[in-house]
Amino acid sequence: MAGFDSLLNRKLRGKRAEDEWESQIDHNHLPQHIAVIMDGNGRWATLRGLPRYAGHRAGMSALKELVTICGELGIQVLTVYAFSTENWKRPAEEVSFLMDLLVEYMERELAELHHKGVQVRILGEIDELPLLAQQALHKAENVTHGNQGMKFNIALNYGGRREILKAVRQIAQQVLAGEIKLEQINEELVSCFLYTKDLPDPDLVIRPSGEQRLSNFLLWQSAYSEFWTSSVLWPDFRKHHLFEAIVDYQKRHRRYGGL
Ligand code: IPE
Ligand code: IPE
Ligand code: MG
Repeated sequence: MAGFDSLLNRKLRGKRAEDEWESQIDHNHLPQHIAVIMDGNGRWATLRGLPRYAGHRAGMSALKELVTICGELGIQVLTVYAFSTENWKRPAEEVSFLMDLLVEYMERELAELHHKGVQVRILGEIDELPLLAQQALHKAENVTHGNQGMKFNIALNYGGRREILKAVRQIAQQVLAGEIKLEQINEELVSCFLYTKDLPDPDLVIRPSGEQRLSNFLLWQSAYSEFWTSSVLWPDFRKHHLFEAIVDYQKRHRRYGGL
């Protein structure tokens, strides 16, 4: 009974926080592009005496909720960081679990995402992933390709430095081939060679788990993004955390170096 009580109380508290933050959101001034570093799954599990993979599974539920809320709010672009080029350093069993989870997520969610008009895109090097993951991701991109709703990007085997390096190589190749003149290389051109070529830069980058770093995420694109961090661990990230981040974002004065 005590367990039931505390669950009920937690839900009520969550709902109150949600309503409180939601009432403060200015719907005419929403961030166009929100990017989230989904961090803290392992710690969430360890705190509960569970294996790390349980944290990743709980993180998947938080992701499902995030996509729904952003869609309902009318956010145009949502990008989530799911696996970095550095995450290969983790034990093989954890990497393999994450890849399987990804396939499971896509198989479970694709129909609903498609139904909601969401457009799925992967940022990163897909062809280095296990075959099953590659197939699931290509399928998600192909099925949702023509959708007109929220653009949902999953950064997977993604590294900001690697993305920039790839762009530099491609541009150099085109210069060597005489297709681009040196003088034509500017910020706009470089942006066209990134995974995010036709997307606006993120307005708001959210990082839960208490860490205050980018960890190689959207290095070029986040030059003037607003950063919002919280000690909440990703699996515990709820609607009211997103609302709080948006309200905080809306209070900021973005100067872009001007006055
Ligand atoms: C984020 O959670 C998920 C991935 C990086 C794939 P972590 O697994 O990094 O969780 P912590 O940071 O160890 O708690
Ligand atoms: C960043 O989290 C990558 C993802 C969330 C996918 P990490 O847990 O890998 O980052 P660090 O190691 O704390 O910088
Ligand atoms: Mg981490």
